[in-house]
Amino acid sequence: MSRSERINFGSRLGVVLATAGSAVGLGNVWRFPFMTGHNGGAAFILIYLGCILLLGIPGMISEFIVGRHSAANAARSYRRLANGTPWMIIGYMGVFTSMLILGFYAVVAGWCLQYLFASVAEHLQGDAAYVSKYFADFSSDPVKPTLWAVTFVLITHVIVSRGIRDGIEKVSKLLMPLLFILLMLIVVASCMLPGAYKGVEFLFKPDFSKLDTGVFLEALGQAFFSLSLGTACLCTYASYFGRKTNLAGAAVQIALIDTLIAILAGLMIFPAAFSVGVHPDSGPSLIFITLPNVFRQAFLGVPFIGYVVSVLFYALMSLAALTSTISMHEIGTAFFHEELKLSRRGGAAIVTVLCCIMTVLCSLSFGACPELAVAGKSLMDCFDNVTAQVLMPLAAFLTCLFVGWYIPRTVVADELSSYGAVNAWYTGLYLYSVKIICPLGILAIFLHQFGLI
Ligand code: PHE
Repeated sequence: MSRSERINFGSRLGVVLATAGSAVGLGNVWRFPFMTGHNGGAAFILIYLGCILLLGIPGMISEFIVGRHSAANAARSYRRLANGTPWMIIGYMGVFTSMLILGFYAVVAGWCLQYLFASVAEHLQGDAAYVSKYFADFSSDPVKPTLWAVTFVLITHVIVSRGIRDGIEKVSKLLMPLLFILLMLIVVASCMLPGAYKGVEFLFKPDFSKLDTGVFLEALGQAFFSLSLGTACLCTYASYFGRKTNLAGAAVQIALIDTLIAILAGLMIFPAAFSVGVHPDSGPSLIFITLPNVFRQAFLGVPFIGYVVSVLFYALMSLAALTSTISMHEIGTAFFHEELKLSRRGGAAIVTVLCCIMTVLCSLSFGACPELAVAGKSLMDCFDNVTAQVLMPLAAFLTCLFVGWYIPRTVVADELSSYGAVNAWYTGLYLYSVKIICPLGILAIFLHQFGLI
């Protein structure tokens, strides 16, 4: 398919909201708050901001360059620029990684849907022991969580198969503002609670005594996950950018939106948690065990508000997850559609079938069938670890080297200046970052993960 036959996003707003939709997800509203809680609050946030600025934004621009230049699915985009060299593997790796992520991400997204309905039906009312048992019973059920996860993949399928403009762009333009409004409503409710200021203080007053190398590397890993770096997602979306889109400008805007939403998520959770005396460092279970309790206790005197906040919260989580699963699905859909010369719907159907199989296995491995495990870890944990700790940083590392050292300088210059439409004064700075700083930063994450530093 030639560049002119290929559909692009219809507007600049569409570009920014769809790509920000990919970035904004459970990583912001679930992972970021518990990582911040765990790593000492504001000091972690400062380092996180540094990672976004120094490594995240150059990494995003690199994927954008590859995608927009080739205007094709991720595998073909890398293949075109790699000229038959092994660099082309990065694109295939991205397609594979995104499908693995969708496999386990849909499980957690399915839990959000279940909790949305449970909070509408007032099934989450009860004390701490009740909420904890509710989660244990639900997640070990062989049918319910699995059905919710498959439902989530199917909803994603319906949107993605409608195409770039009618599906992804339209839905992003609707969901992203809605998500922001829901978030602001809960932030206001949470910050008005008595004693909420302690949560705000935790979020904005740095305590540098908590810092060690581990915190730096966790912040870096979180920045990558949150920006969807290293899955070819940004590359695939950039293949639908028009030639006039300013790549660096788009990267900065998307990183800003993503960071703003993560910080607002902190402002939604910490003030409520501190106001009832809960320290929010409970790890991944924060959202499904700690928070229903926090909301119940915090708004005990005003029952209706407690109900509304809880419903809005799980609606928000589900929407955030959806805009991200759409982008993961699109990577595979574009790949099968263009590489196997299938219709778009055909390509989407293949991704959906493969992801449903993976998501069923992941869901069962978490609860009902613990024997679905590799080296003592549930399949769900394996998919999570292999993608977030190995495949994503590896692809981001290779992409930086590929764009920084291998592809022709003219391609980088043309893409950064949008074929002359932009004065790209920062080209040198960008190149320095992707050639040296980003690869070294990512290498440090690797060495740390394997206990070498
Ligand atoms: N960035 C998304 C989040 O924060 C997750 C994601 C990873 C989306 C990889 C697409 C690709 O939740």
